[in-house]
Amino acid sequence: TLMWKKLNNPTESHSSIIEAARLLSHQKVVAFPTETVYGLGADATDESAVQHIFEAKGRPSDNPLIVHVANEDQVKELVSEIPPVAKKLMDEFWPGALTLVLKSNGVAASNVTAGLSTIGIRMPDHPLALALLRATGKPLAAPSANRSGKPSPTTAQHVYQDLNGRIAGILDGGPTGVGLESTVLDCTTEIPVILRPGGITKEDLEEILPQVMVDPALADEQHQPKSPGMKYTHYAPEAPLWLIDGEDEFFQRQLNHLIEDGKRVGVIASDQLAEKLDYEFLIRCGSRNHLSQVAERLYGALREYKKADIDVILCESFPETGVGAAIMNRLNKAAVKKIQTY
Ligand code: TXA
Ligand code: MG
Repeated sequence: TLMWKKLNNPTESHSSIIEAARLLSHQKVVAFPTETVYGLGADATDESAVQHIFEAKGRPSDNPLIVHVANEDQVKELVSEIPPVAKKLMDEFWPGALTLVLKSNGVAASNVTAGLSTIGIRMPDHPLALALLRATGKPLAAPSANRSGKPSPTTAQHVYQDLNGRIAGILDGGPTGVGLESTVLDCTTEIPVILRPGGITKEDLEEILPQVMVDPALADEQHQPKSPGMKYTHYAPEAPLWLIDGEDEFFQRQLNHLIEDGKRVGVIASDQLAEKLDYEFLIRCGSRNHLSQVAERLYGALREYKKADIDVILCESFPETGVGAAIMNRLNKAAVKKIQTY
């Protein structure tokens, strides 16, 4: 796997971008940064190129991929219609962490949409991703660039750890800013539905849309999710993650119990909880009052603790407002156990 030198001011004419675009035109897969997480890209119109993504990630073939575009003309080439509400959202939030599910016209390779009649599309807000898209001139199918089931990569090194030897190259743009994946919004229904909470929050959408719904499956595990990817084990760290929901003192007691049992515990905590706990194996993920910091650091923290050193990871719960909805969605999926005071 080629790991190009970190690019700070990417342009389409930079040698590593040209080389990456050339590999993509030869049905190879290349990882690149976006503002959310690193993506693993292939030409979205080429079925065998896209097949290489599924193989490299070990991804189930019934889970559709998000297509990345550099401009709105590329959207028109992939969908049968752009409803007014989708146009409004593109104007407001693109480039950005919002994936719109629209009706596919069948131009994308069939494995991109996993046989669905709809297609998820977004324009990433990252100079390197946009330079690569312009250099290839093609829409790029790109899921997160991790092995299936693991936390998404927020640095080029995370991609390397997961996929070295399985992909053609990695473009390094440094750490990603948002840290969690895009919001997936179904725009094929009368009222748009959030299928996956992400970087653009429900509150952000409500400022633009008269009504937004949330897929009931997000709140209730009995429901079949409309977004196929939401049903799989996801974001799992190496060691089992326990999610603690309660006061800081409650967290301290859970930690004490585990230590008394002889367990090696790694803690992921906000600055506020970290100040109160008297404990050494602790990763701070930012302030409770700035959940965007927590989002940015969460996946890195989940990857930090190794099975060889730690028996259990204890992580605190966060409020579900703003980007907190996406944080808690990922933590609930990553956790094998949830402990609550009530
Ligand atoms: O921020 C992101 O969205 C990142 C970066 C690389 O852009 N990509 C990403 O892709 O997270 P991935 O494949 O890991 O997640 C795609 C999600 C899955 O949950 C999938 O089921 C859903 O989007 N999805 C894609 N196409 C869909 C469709 N047509 N209908 C419903 N859900 C769809
Ligand atoms: Mg993913």
